[in-house]
Amino acid sequence: MKQVGKIHGPVKPTTFQILLSDLSTERGSYIKVNHDVYGWVLAKIESMKRYLDDFDDEVMLAEARTVGYKRDDNVLIPKTPFKPGEKVYTADKSLIMSILGLRRDKKDSMYIGMLEGHDIPVYLDVKKTIGKHTSVLAKTGAGKSYTVAVLLEELIKNDVAIVIIDPHGEYGSLRIENDDYDAMLKYNIKAASYADKVVEYATNRRVNPNAGKLILPSDFDLIELTEIMPMSLGDRQKSTLYSALRDLEGERYTLKDLMVRVEQEPTQAKWKVMSGLEGLDESGIFEGDPIALEDLVQKGQATIINLLGTEHHIQELVVAKLARMLFDGIRVGKIPEFFFLVEEAHNFCPERGFGDSISSSILRDIASEGRKFGFHLCVVSQRPARVDKNVLSQCNTQIILKVTNPNDLRAISHSIEGFTPGMEKEIRQLSVGHALIVGESVEQPITVDIRVRETKHHTSHVRAMVAEQSSDEDDVGGTFSGEDIVEGSSSSFLRLLKRIFLK
Ligand SMILES: Nc1ncnc2c1ncn2[C@@H]1O[C@H](COP(=O)(O)OP(=O)(O)O)[C@@H](O)[C@H]1O
Ligand SMILES: [Mg+2]
Repeated sequence: MKQVGKIHGPVKPTTFQILLSDLSTERGSYIKVNHDVYGWVLAKIESMKRYLDDFDDEVMLAEARTVGYKRDDNVLIPKTPFKPGEKVYTADKSLIMSILGLRRDKKDSMYIGMLEGHDIPVYLDVKKTIGKHTSVLAKTGAGKSYTVAVLLEELIKNDVAIVIIDPHGEYGSLRIENDDYDAMLKYNIKAASYADKVVEYATNRRVNPNAGKLILPSDFDLIELTEIMPMSLGDRQKSTLYSALRDLEGERYTLKDLMVRVEQEPTQAKWKVMSGLEGLDESGIFEGDPIALEDLVQKGQATIINLLGTEHHIQELVVAKLARMLFDGIRVGKIPEFFFLVEEAHNFCPERGFGDSISSSILRDIASEGRKFGFHLCVVSQRPARVDKNVLSQCNTQIILKVTNPNDLRAISHSIEGFTPGMEKEIRQLSVGHALIVGESVEQPITVDIRVRETKHHTSHVRAMVAEQSSDEDDVGGTFSGEDIVEGSSSSFLRLLKRIFLK
């Protein structure tokens, strides 16, 4: 038990100042103070300042916030202040773990990193964390995808079924072992490859040659079709479509079969329906033998839906169709419970006023009803203010890395119960790779220094893949660069959409 200083100035039960004698004390670390009524109380150093006093002596002052003391199973805040001048000590591991409710038991848990400022590993309970949906929010470059990959590694080890919506093609690197051995030593991590657990499908195989082709079933019903068509249909057009669908009922039919059937309808209304169906057809994702639900979702398998190099409307179409198919499948018990990760969620379920997406309505349904069927949603976004707030507010565990944009901070504060100004300050000051975790999976909000990955982070992997691709297919011409790539069929789909929307 090491003394770090003593209480300085006026004391409140929830906040107080410490005159530090140990200058190695850091912001964010936990300390303890003995209270004359309640015994040892845990507190956290929230900010520090250093200056010269009137005698030119250096002074270091810290602001601390009381976390609480434990009585039975509850963490309580003292009802009276500490004694002025009381000694302050570094908090011991067992006190921190008991008051923050950190687990020692590693069973059914995910090792995600170390408690910031302490040598205490943080294990989150799998069910509590993913059970009621999760969000991972932060500005670009703060470490969202890295943190998500750590979660994925742990979920794979826990044999959880996973489906990943991967717009940047960055999660395929779960197959490649990390080689940053020094960092792995620090977190007691061994390099690993999950090549035998990862299955990858892509919409654009030219830029993702290592993936299988994503083909989705075209067993639409009227409601789904009207939802995913690139334009809205009037009543006459809907009834034309309905009549064609009714004729095909009970048969196994392709999108092409449906188009042939619609063309036979004796009405002018069919033409708009036809052009909508052509749009879906040209996306290329309904052509061929569709993937089976059972292949998409399997315990211990991470299925990556790689959307790199695919035009936005097709990305939305894939998410809309896939999410609907998975939701229908899990409701009738065809697939086991699974973790559904949606990167760039602001594109797939945007907040009103920030665009429209055909995948919005199904994602909203999943957010509000999915949990009772075991459909565990995880939304990731660098623009929380632009994500549908109905979806965000359904996420009961929030993993928040550095955010500075005031609108995004406001959106986060609205989606978290018991959000405090202290949390906002903390979120603004977080370092890259450090995350504030709030909600269902933790008893108290905690800041975690997210562990190093067992697998390689995507940057170099993607570059290598792209390089390999360009040298293999010189005849294709040009260089591939992320989202600029549009496959032949996609660009004609884009043209078609423009035709429809610009009318
Ligand atoms: N927990 C971490 N440990 C080590 N490096 C990290 C960590 N989190 C992020 N980084 C570094 O920051 C970079 C950006 O992280 P990334 O997760 O890709 O950001 P984004 O929030 O945009 O998804 C990574 O390439 C990596 O170098
Ligand atoms: Mg990212």
